[in-house]
Amino acid sequence: MIHQVTVVGAGNVGATTAQRLVEKQIADVVLIDIVDGLPQGKALDLAEAAPVEKHDARLTGANDYRAVAGSDVVIITAGLPRKPGMSRSDLLATNAKIMSQVVEQVKANAPESILIIVSNPLDAMCHVAYNVSGFPPERVIGMAGVLDSARFRRFIADELGVSVENTHAFVLGGHGDTMVPLPRYSTVAGIPITELMDAETIERLVHRTRFGGAEIVELLKTGSAFYAPASSAVEMCQAILFDRKKILPCAALLQGQYGCHDLFIGVPVKLGRAGVEQVIEIKLLPEEAEALKKSAAAVRELVDELKEMGY
Ligand code: NAI
Ligand code: 2OP
Repeated sequence: MIHQVTVVGAGNVGATTAQRLVEKQIADVVLIDIVDGLPQGKALDLAEAAPVEKHDARLTGANDYRAVAGSDVVIITAGLPRKPGMSRSDLLATNAKIMSQVVEQVKANAPESILIIVSNPLDAMCHVAYNVSGFPPERVIGMAGVLDSARFRRFIADELGVSVENTHAFVLGGHGDTMVPLPRYSTVAGIPITELMDAETIERLVHRTRFGGAEIVELLKTGSAFYAPASSAVEMCQAILFDRKKILPCAALLQGQYGCHDLFIGVPVKLGRAGVEQVIEIKLLPEEAEALKKSAAAVRELVDELKEMGY
């Protein structure tokens, strides 16, 4: 393969991401985890599937970050999920520490790489990665909007009985309950869904999208979603490596766009070989702009907490 991608965190999201990357023949993959044997075992298992899956992508599992050298993209999924009794601030502190340690190592071994951040709380973790790496903003990108939009598309397709391929959706804002699905910009074969469904139906789908992550957690009981998150990270990675110039909703550093300053939040961006090549500003109705402002305020709160912790 001409590309190499490192996936940090060989858990549910990380291992599935690695699987999709090699089976779609997008890149050779280095899988890294803190647990001894875990990335090595999963990489070997995936490599042994290759003759049946018919690809020649190379897989390496390691605990040592020297294996990361030469990676074009590094996808970071390392982190803990929120456990019972754990406050949001506890999770923020724990995952910020993990993100910081991981990014220090990535920076030392692959200083030219592009980071795709997956660990939660997503927008806040992008800030940690950005500050610790010192990378330019176009090389630090958060995955959430592609996943949230994919969920919205799934629900739209099911509601109307159409192919998911005909659907398009945009979800902006932070990756949490305050996210902002935009029905006006969500379409089926180019037709806005506002012309295909009544307001009550749209509101039901919007609500389900906002709580899409929680719906999966409730069903799985242990752990959170990983198939759709992995697909989403892979779509972003592919757009970057193959310089596709795809417009996708991603968490990017805003520097004045949408009225936000120095804040990572989900917006439409153009993804190409340089990373975020453009932040696309779309016109919002007053109520949409207000919802985005609220979502930005929720992210800002976490970022302020991080600052107090020294990140
Ligand atoms: P998981 O628990 O299956 O895997 C996490 C892995 O990270 C584990 O294998 C663990 O050993 C590893 N890890 C922990 N500390 C590490 C360190 N310092 N260095 C390297 N590896 C380390 O969790 P899962 O389901 O894969 O989720 C991973 C993260 O992604 C979580 O924070 C989750 O909330 C987040 N997530 C975010 C989504 C998004 O839309 N942005 C969607 C789904 C998950
Ligand atoms: C999700 O949306 C847990 O953030 C994760 O599924």
